[in-house]
Amino acid sequence: MSDIAYLNGEFLPLDQARVSALDRGFIFGDGVYEVIPVYSRRPFRLPEHLRRLQRSLDAIRLGNPVTDAEWTRLIHDLVARHSGEDQSVYLQVTRGVARRDHAFPKEGKPTVFMMSSPLVTPAREQIENGVACITATDYRWLRCDVKSVSLLANCLLRQQAAEAGAVEVVLFRDGCLTEASASNVFVVRGGKLLAPPKDHLILPGITYDVVLELAAAKGIAVELRAIPEQEARGADELWVTSSSKEVLAVTTLDGKPVGNGRPGPMFRTVHQAFQEFKRKVMRHAA
Ligand code: PDD
Repeated sequence: MSDIAYLNGEFLPLDQARVSALDRGFIFGDGVYEVIPVYSRRPFRLPEHLRRLQRSLDAIRLGNPVTDAEWTRLIHDLVARHSGEDQSVYLQVTRGVARRDHAFPKEGKPTVFMMSSPLVTPAREQIENGVACITATDYRWLRCDVKSVSLLANCLLRQQAAEAGAVEVVLFRDGCLTEASASNVFVVRGGKLLAPPKDHLILPGITYDVVLELAAAKGIAVELRAIPEQEARGADELWVTSSSKEVLAVTTLDGKPVGNGRPGPMFRTVHQAFQEFKRKVMRHAA
């Protein structure tokens, strides 16, 4: 039986969901998206995801076709139509169907699509031993703060990582750390937690914010600032964070050990805090 998806006002089997070949999402990658983790059937940080969606829509000058109250209702409805306790809800809004022309159509209705899949979080082995990453030059555009469906550069970079047997590719632009192909990146040096500031060069990650909140609650000193490449390469610890990876220690970078090559003590503290935080969210779901 096919999963249930949502398309333009109706729930239907995913394998029957169809959009026109003239949809600007297909033709131009003209759209934005969100990925929302769901724990115990409760969407995690939903208001924050909806706020970021609005921010992305504003950036591409596309009106939000759905109110926040309606998004919330639709997302809960989609989750209820799936059997898994932990899910990953994907939603996307494109500028809709129009004759091919780069400039926006005068009329037209955005296309709204949602689906849900089982949430796949890191395996125990990856949490205990950390993961391998490679590095590359960040050649994406200059609006990486927009969660755009135009992900060609991210796909090419991520494929490089896949071919190298790595989980992610850590990116540097103009000599400084930005993020990874589908994750934010944190650096630990000299007992401090460092991260690039939220600007146009990185996606403002929802997990990034959670990690900073948990670090503050644990009394960890945090610095949000430009991180030169050499500082990142000489890190005591390196982490990647995202809605699916949660917090994951990077233990080799381009084949060289990060720090002592094991997940570090600050990682263990924040990872544990993240798991406790999740459990708290789940209890509220009951
Ligand atoms: N990716 N940076 C990039 C480029 C991303 O694509 C993502 C998320 C993040 C982390 O954001 P968050 O913590 O809100 O998941 C950072 C999602 C999961 C994806 O594209 O599948």
